Amino acid sequence: GYGRVGNPVCGDLMEIFIKVRDGKIEDIKFRTFGCGAAIATSSMITEMARGKSLEEAMRITRNDVADALDGLPPQKMHCSNLAADALHAAINDYLSKKQKH
Ligand code: FES
Repeated sequence: GYGRVGNPVCGDLMEIFIKVRDGKIEDIKFRTFGCGAAIATSSMITEMARGKSLEEAMRITRNDVADALDGLPPQKMHCSNLAADALHAAINDYLSKKQKH
């Protein structure tokens, strides 16, 4: 599955790639064009989602990602939204591709 989200505030971009086997995220990678907080949250969400079922990964919220990093400065919170949104987009992409086959 592949998810890509842009941040309209700053124009930054995050992509998440997942490999799913038996309903679990076997592997996950990111490519981020953005600020330090965006890169940190991309990296953190790959750690959080690896090995999880799709349902569990879907429940990872924007706040969970920021909490896992021990918080972000308030003006950087919007950067952490990209990570959860990109992960969820990748899962939805996987599910919609699977339906077609
Ligand atoms: Fe753009 Fe952080 S400033 S994602």
